Amino acid sequence: MVTLLENPLRVGLQQERIPEPLIMVIFGASGDLTQRKLIPAIYQFKRERKLPPEITIVGVARRPWSHDYFREQMREGIEQFSEHGLGPEEMWNDFAQGLFYCPGDIDKPEDYQRLKEFLSELDEKRGTRGNRVFYLAVSPKFFPESIRQLGLADMLTDPIKTRLVIEKPFGRDLSSAQALNRVVQQVCKEEQVYRIDHYLGKETVQNLLVFRFANAIFEPIWNRQFVDHVQITVAETVGVEDRAGYYETSGALRDMVQNHLMQLFCLTAMEPPNSLDADSIRTEKVKVIQATHLAEENNLEYSAVRGQYSAGWMKGKQVPGYRQEPGVDPNSTTPTYVAMKFLVDNWRWQGVPFYLRTGKRLPKKVSEISIHFREVPFLIFQSAAQQASPNILTLRIQPNEGIALRFDVKMPGAQLRTRSVDMDFRYGQSFGMATADAYSRLLLDCMIGDQTLFTRADEVEAAWRVVTPALAAWDAPSDPSTVPQYEAGTWEPAEAELLINRDGRRWRRL
Ligand code: BG6
Repeated sequence: MVTLLENPLRVGLQQERIPEPLIMVIFGASGDLTQRKLIPAIYQFKRERKLPPEITIVGVARRPWSHDYFREQMREGIEQFSEHGLGPEEMWNDFAQGLFYCPGDIDKPEDYQRLKEFLSELDEKRGTRGNRVFYLAVSPKFFPESIRQLGLADMLTDPIKTRLVIEKPFGRDLSSAQALNRVVQQVCKEEQVYRIDHYLGKETVQNLLVFRFANAIFEPIWNRQFVDHVQITVAETVGVEDRAGYYETSGALRDMVQNHLMQLFCLTAMEPPNSLDADSIRTEKVKVIQATHLAEENNLEYSAVRGQYSAGWMKGKQVPGYRQEPGVDPNSTTPTYVAMKFLVDNWRWQGVPFYLRTGKRLPKKVSEISIHFREVPFLIFQSAAQQASPNILTLRIQPNEGIALRFDVKMPGAQLRTRSVDMDFRYGQSFGMATADAYSRLLLDCMIGDQTLFTRADEVEAAWRVVTPALAAWDAPSDPSTVPQYEAGTWEPAEAELLINRDGRRWRRL
């Protein structure tokens, strides 16, 4: 561990790295996330020989499980949720020997003492050398207490050997995020903290940096002189599913915009970092967010629109509206759709709007960033084309991961007619393999000690600051009839069309 943390040149966006022996302590080990995502991902690393044999997992939760029962649960999780299954029985047996369970209450200091002693015993037995990753896979309301207790038990005092991983959401507004950061900062240093945003683990999101900064031809046109506007879309077909309890207190702005869309925005708009190390990249991201604001903060409907899905049809099946979903308040004003217009006050982007939108129960699952370039200054083909079609560069985050550049060509034939075509790069076709799971990538990074793809304290606060005017307006009690509705299975509400049409532009039809 020591070598990796002390040598930033070995970290960054690099491949084929192996963590040092360590214990990963998962708080909330009886929950869904552990069984569905964390353990299947760690097991897959094991199968791919990305982990040293000493790797040890300790699950912590309130239920009085035994080590064996925990192992059984995790085995079921792998069988059910891992794409590649359990594989050879010896592989599983070897992995299971490194799985342990330690029952405990989040707020009981004596349970942390017991855990601490147990971890020291495991160090002796498994050769894990005091290296620890504490992963908080618990409900966000337990974050402050568990962090405080880890601090009180002196379990985070070694900045080199101990790390803290915090799931999203990090706070529910600026002041709660600041308060949580204060709790974190009281017990450990920023270089120990890994705030997760799984969008940063997506291959196509990481590729944004490579695309922008490893190619000479895009950077000179990546600015206000050439770019008319940028659209960022994260559309989902799913509804609220069985998460009403969480979603009712969150909504699309907190669940998606402040984190996932903001990350896509940052990587698109940031300046080139000085190097690939975590802090250079994160510093540039913070700088661009600090220059960003809603286009018209005093006239909110001109720069932020919320919406809620009403009953409709998805793939030939009738689906209920958000307010009719189980567990949702029939008068809920929680947004399931958000569209926003941001402006960035800096030399590169002055006057270039960034339109962001995300929603559930939209017609397609698709995430993409599209850079819309300016029109030609004078079109000599006016009689030939109905309308000039500006060039569009599309970075497809998911699905059909890839990049397309749209430009006009002459259609074959004696007449001079033009048409827009796409030059298209597809990950699947070019590399013949599926892109890696975002979660796995991040999990491996925090074991290795690479913070590049995790959000820093100032970044998370800056992101909350940008959306605060909308949060404040939408959190205030309002008449449910004022929340714009869109039918499930259709694109945005009319108000969101207006947000962009008002500027003489249109949302891309995806
Ligand atoms: C999660 C949100 O963070 O991201 C979910 O809580 C959302 O509501 C999900 O569905 C989307 O992730 P992805 O990777 O499927 O785009």
